[in-house]
Amino acid sequence: MSPHSLLILPGDGIGPEVMAEVRKVIDWIGAKRDVSFDVSEDLVGGAAYDAHGTPLHDDTMARAQEVDAVLLGAVGGPKYDDLDFSVKPERGLLRLRKEMDLFANLRPAQCFDALADFSSLKKDIVAGLDIVIVRELTSGVYFGEPRGIFEEGNERVGINTQRYTESEIDRIARAAFELARKRSGKVCSMEKANVMESGILWREVTQHIHDADYPDVELSHMYADNGAMQLVRAPKQFDVILTDNLFGDILSDCAAMLTGSLGMLPSASLGAPMANGRPRALYEPVHGSAPDIAGQGKANPIACILSFAMALRYSFDMGGDAARVEAAVEKVLADGMRTGDLLGAEGGQASLTSEMGDAIVGALDASL
Ligand code: NAI
Ligand code: MG
Repeated sequence: MSPHSLLILPGDGIGPEVMAEVRKVIDWIGAKRDVSFDVSEDLVGGAAYDAHGTPLHDDTMARAQEVDAVLLGAVGGPKYDDLDFSVKPERGLLRLRKEMDLFANLRPAQCFDALADFSSLKKDIVAGLDIVIVRELTSGVYFGEPRGIFEEGNERVGINTQRYTESEIDRIARAAFELARKRSGKVCSMEKANVMESGILWREVTQHIHDADYPDVELSHMYADNGAMQLVRAPKQFDVILTDNLFGDILSDCAAMLTGSLGMLPSASLGAPMANGRPRALYEPVHGSAPDIAGQGKANPIACILSFAMALRYSFDMGGDAARVEAAVEKVLADGMRTGDLLGAEGGQASLTSEMGDAIVGALDASL
């Protein structure tokens, strides 16, 4: 297998539209930066259901386990709403996440200067912001037992259990420290060790892994409620934020909106290291298949292009090229180019998906 294998799963709705623009960027990096990507493409979601009667074919699943990185567009749409739960498009994505055991969800909040006015916060608080939230994704209160609604005396009780084992904390902490080494070397871990035993263990294990194996990374601890306050007060104090499933769900949505539109937000989900030392990895935009604008060529491809930039940085050790792609995005936004979702109340001329992709490739050319 090539040292740079990539499986592309465009999926449904605007997925294939935005992925066509990512292909231009992949081709550019391949040609101009002299890397040979081994790119394969397959179906997922409704598209896979239409072809095979299942939202993820076993062959596709097997391929996903072999490659360095999977890049996914989006799945779902009204056409599939009445399908049986077991074959719904979302099941394809869930199967990928589960079988690849993707326990670390990375959600960057990165503010492009040209869009700083979009933020609900003051411009100087968000301008230049570049942080990543690392959320534990496969354990914690969403999965802990016992859970359920039970009869107790003459009323009912709803129960969920926050539960973390040492090994679960160990592996997510390592993912955050590894990430910090590829960035500015700082991790802030957030829990509620003041009121939760799972938080006490989280803090202990995180500190222990740090002292034993990552003393070069700067580690701090913060209670998650204070973390939420700090995130909106002075987000630039952070680099990597490490947190559990529940707090991460809330904090990552909060952090994402510091910087604006859904059409701009990339994500990564990482698993355990493979034989070559790279983590299993799935990269995807945060947005869905956007049926309301699908087929019209006006979706914003930037979230998906930035997801590929994350793949360059975290799967292919090409951080310089990732920064080059991000700078190209910054350049076209600074030049005033906007897809419809990025037009503010004042309106303006909206660019098409393909025009945005072409402009980003043009900015890449200009960067050489
Ligand atoms: P959505 O993210 O698809 O759309 C929400 C709103 O944001 C829509 O108005 C849409 O036009 C807009 N939007 C989203 N991405 C955009 C982009 N790149 N450029 C410009 N505008 C964009 O979420 P929604 O409407 O709740 O779900 C639609 C379908 O997508 C459903 O079938 C849902 O299940 C699925 N979905 C899939 C996800 C995935 O594949 N990871 C995630 C979220 C939803
Ligand atoms: Mg959420």
